[in-house]
Amino acid sequence: MTIEKILIVDDELIVRNFLSETLRRKHFEVTVAEGGLKAIALCKETTFDLVITDMKMPDLTGIEVLKKVKELSPSTVVIIITAFGSIENAVEAMQYGAFNYLLKPFSPDTVEAVIEKAREHLSLVAENTYLRQQLSASRPGLTVIAESPSMQRIINEAKSVAKSNTNVFIHGESGTGKEVVAQIIHNNSLRANRPFIKVNCAAVPETLIESEFFGHEKGAFTGASARRLGRFELAHTGTLLLDEITETPLPLQAKLLRVTQEQEFERVGGSRQIIVDVRLISTSNRDMKEAIAEKRMREDLFYRLNVFPILIPPLRERKEDIIPLAEYFITKSSLENHREKKTLSADAKKKLLAYDWPGNVRELSNIIERAIVLDNGKQIGATHLFIESQESPKDEPPAKSKDRSRQKIPIGLTLQEVEKRLILATLLAHQNNTTKAAEMLGISQKVLKNKILEYKIAE
Ligand SMILES: Nc1ncnc2c1ncn2[C@@H]1O[C@H](COP(=O)(O)OP(=O)(O)OP(=O)(O)O)[C@@H](O)[C@H]1O
Ligand SMILES: [Mg+2]
Repeated sequence: MTIEKILIVDDELIVRNFLSETLRRKHFEVTVAEGGLKAIALCKETTFDLVITDMKMPDLTGIEVLKKVKELSPSTVVIIITAFGSIENAVEAMQYGAFNYLLKPFSPDTVEAVIEKAREHLSLVAENTYLRQQLSASRPGLTVIAESPSMQRIINEAKSVAKSNTNVFIHGESGTGKEVVAQIIHNNSLRANRPFIKVNCAAVPETLIESEFFGHEKGAFTGASARRLGRFELAHTGTLLLDEITETPLPLQAKLLRVTQEQEFERVGGSRQIIVDVRLISTSNRDMKEAIAEKRMREDLFYRLNVFPILIPPLRERKEDIIPLAEYFITKSSLENHREKKTLSADAKKKLLAYDWPGNVRELSNIIERAIVLDNGKQIGATHLFIESQESPKDEPPAKSKDRSRQKIPIGLTLQEVEKRLILATLLAHQNNTTKAAEMLGISQKVLKNKILEYKIAE
């Protein structure tokens, strides 16, 4: 977060002029007010990043201005100007949330130093807020199981490309571990202590996606009541994961292309160019040649993002990983569900190895979790593994093969309720594979994801 707009509030013309000249020379956007009431009126119209206010003014005190500014915009930084000898005022102001104070008389250097501190403070606040969100959303540590030669090669590749700033594109079926690999790259990069920001391009409604990426200014559109930073700005100096990039609307892909070329963009409703330093990792579970031919994905953008491609093979093509992954999920799930650790019977192992895992690692994790939760025995046998029958041909999903019109639908449900149930059942039939479920429901993956969010089927 940066400081751009500054409001100076002082009843003395000479102080106003001194401050505004000093700050304009530093390219800040400066507004002045000769009293507290005027300042508050201005703050109602514009969100300032920083307000510098005098303590003693004829209409309002600096503390009154401070309280009102904080009420209107809690993130605005306030600095109080106070005369030498009335330092207790400054202390009081800081208790009300002032960031710092300037003792009169002050030099341009002092002003710049205080602003620099405020700027550092703001970027720390942004980062802390972000880190808190990340912490609550992320797992405690990253454990990656890679027994198969292909996974070991991928991890080595990920670690070696991590050190550069090269854009990486991770290809792979749903649930193969694309996000895990993206995390490995970030963790092993020089940006490891900087933000790792994710944006799921399929989950954000089309109308909001531009603002999600690039942020917006206050008033940019109905409902934009304050300035908001986009994911690119939040990821500044770190890594940005563009998950399911092919689901991004084409006009926005044009804007993304510009960011990949010039590392700069404007917030929605803004005109200032914002420059960012971001490493991009993109993922997709689609065939990219097809996506380009179908005009879902701009070819030029794809080449920009696909500088270093990583292809994660499906689980059925790296069977060496199946049992180690199952054992890892048993340990994890037992701990999480406070169960005694179980072992896998020989039959269970055979069944796991024979299955073709359309939902890949995520499906394996779900099946193990179910086995742990549903049974109290010491061993997981083949019967505890609820795996779809392998008999139904792959291109004919199980639920579709029956005459669905004859299935009973209870009357009295709303259409929405029917829709929700149908989505749930379809997802279940496809082990939560949204690509396949969307295909079967005859809707785009994006529409499906929006409905999943709308009906609170998943987070
Ligand atoms: N090699 C691995 N070791 C340990 N856990 C893994 C591994 N690969 C995947 N997982 C776990 O499996 C789940 C799915 O992985 P992930 O979210 O990375 O897949 P994805 O390819 O991004 O899926 P999608 O296409 O659905 O977004 C996660 O819970 C992840 O932690
Ligand atoms: Mg993913």
